[in-house]
Amino acid sequence: MHANQEYPVIVDQLVKVYNPNKPELSVRAVDGMSFKVARGEACAIIGPSGCGKSSLLHILGCLDRPTAGSYKLEGKEVKELSEDELAKVRNQHIGFVFQSFNLLPKLTALENVELPLRYAGVGGKSKDRALAALARVGLDARSKHKPNELSGGQRQRVAIARALVTEPSILLCDEPTGALDSKTGKDVLALLQQLGTEGTTLVMVTHDLHIARQLGRAVYLRDGRVVADGESQMIVERMLNEVGEEEAA
Ligand SMILES: Nc1ncnc2c1ncn2[C@@H]1O[C@H](COP(=O)(O)OP(=O)(O)OP(=O)(O)O)[C@@H](O)[C@H]1O
Ligand SMILES: [Mg+2]
Repeated sequence: MHANQEYPVIVDQLVKVYNPNKPELSVRAVDGMSFKVARGEACAIIGPSGCGKSSLLHILGCLDRPTAGSYKLEGKEVKELSEDELAKVRNQHIGFVFQSFNLLPKLTALENVELPLRYAGVGGKSKDRALAALARVGLDARSKHKPNELSGGQRQRVAIARALVTEPSILLCDEPTGALDSKTGKDVLALLQQLGTEGTTLVMVTHDLHIARQLGRAVYLRDGRVVADGESQMIVERMLNEVGEEEAA
């Protein structure tokens, strides 16, 4: 058994500096973060606006590269991978769900979900697999609809199906309920939580502390650093004590 198998995500002294060579524009968005996420764990990333949550998630999703430090994804040191290898690792291991869905408007729900399989070079079975993924989020009856013919919650469910169709080991979500009303948000959250029980590791950036409390674990960030990490109820209380309800939300 591989030593890192229990922790599909390990970051150590991770740093992300935007515009490192332009002093007036330079931002140290991630400033030495270290933590690891166990397989099957559901982990919230919380902290005030601008603390580096999205920057971190983009690195975890291999959409961006760290400036310094180490990120081991499924035991592989990401900075040692070429662009091609990185794209492959991303396609193989990572599902990403964005606040704004990021569906392609001209494609149907089914075609959107099928896209990652086409990139992965999955042949004939890709349509069946995409349909199965849509069925998993309860939307097989909407497969021929385009995004603008779907409700917000339905669009996010299509985006979740697209993230899951490749059977990633890690699902990363950046404010997945942020654009949804609270009832729809609850449905989407329930769907995501169900995945955890199926062994998928979930890392979710959220402003919603009610949601953060429901995930078992929370990592609390401020100014690009981890200030607290642990059982989510405890961490959320600590954040509320420090920053107050208004700034936290
Ligand atoms: N592409 C970029 N170029 C330069 N600076 C950036 C870039 N993206 C983010 N930043 C800066 O990095 C810091 C962290 O941004 P980030 O988007 O990670 O915050 P966040 O915690 O996700 O905030 P929010 O809760 O508002 O989404 C901010 O100060 C932001 O202005
Ligand atoms: Mg953000």
